[in-house]
Amino acid sequence: MTSSELFSVEGYGVVVTGGASGLGLAFAEALAENGAAVTILDVDGKAIESEVARLVDAGHDVRGEVVDVTDHARLDAAFDAAVAAHGRLDVAFANAGIDSGPGFVSGWAGAERPRNYDGALETYTDERWNRVIDVNLNGVFATIRSATRHLRPQRSGRIIVTTSLAAIKTEPVIGAAYMAAKAGCAHLTRNVALELAAYGITVNAIAPGFIVTNIGSGHAKDPAAQEAMAKDIPMHRVGFPDDIKGLALFLASPASAYVTGQQIVIDGGWGLGLAD
Ligand SMILES: NC(=O)c1ccc[n+]([C@@H]2O[C@H](COP(=O)([O-])OP(=O)(O)OC[C@H]3O[C@@H](n4cnc5c(N)ncnc54)[C@H](O)[C@@H]3O)[C@@H](O)[C@H]2O)c1
Repeated sequence: MTSSELFSVEGYGVVVTGGASGLGLAFAEALAENGAAVTILDVDGKAIESEVARLVDAGHDVRGEVVDVTDHARLDAAFDAAVAAHGRLDVAFANAGIDSGPGFVSGWAGAERPRNYDGALETYTDERWNRVIDVNLNGVFATIRSATRHLRPQRSGRIIVTTSLAAIKTEPVIGAAYMAAKAGCAHLTRNVALELAAYGITVNAIAPGFIVTNIGSGHAKDPAAQEAMAKDIPMHRVGFPDDIKGLALFLASPASAYVTGQQIVIDGGWGLGLAD
């Protein structure tokens, strides 16, 4: 392989959970724009319909299916259908995730971060905890398992998990279950990477910082929130889904063949601390 082919995903079969919006959509675009056949799985049927139509109109090989990652049997069936449609599976993005509601302080940035009773431990319901774990941790486990059923026999493939800077650094604005789920996903990534390394399958995680998407009812789209956050981020700007495409392509392509079990933070330096 020449170095000009290192980032080629031409002809690959790809599945992206939570692929109809935000980061998942950026992963789908990055791979499809580079010649892969992509299946988007998401709970949002309307978004699937419009995004798939847009990408197909642009000449890309993209299909979608309404699947909730908490329905593990449906997830298995959707992977089977994607393999049947594309003829192969090379890359699976375990990306679907939800916001976990209020944390124990309010306000993303700045000195004003008042305590928030609604997000305090004593008021944190089992229902809320279980829902976040079910989507953000159990859904990732089930996605990895669905993918592995296809990848292990062929002895090749890439699994890419979306974790978060919250897997490393606790963020009090986000609820506790999100921290636990993302840290769990990060360690699950290492464990699965160890199990699958001998089969030529790499398993890595992308840990984004503050990226403007629709998560949490799109709170990050508020210009005031972006301006406040930008002050805390060493690169002095928030992130956008396009920022993540290069890393996705790297982890999906032959360029990363010898990288496994790693969590790569992509956050404009936010996790490093406060600069100026
Ligand atoms: N945006 C950020 O700042 C940020 C930072 C760190 C990590 N993340 C992670 O990135 C991932 C993608 O989030 P995003 O920011 O792009 O949000 P988003 O809301 O824009 O996109 C998430 C997509 O997942 C889908 N989804 C939600 N629950 C699902 C389920 N049960 N089954 C299938 N699909 C489901 C949604 O319908 C949506 O299309 C999540 O795992 C999130 O935790 C986001």
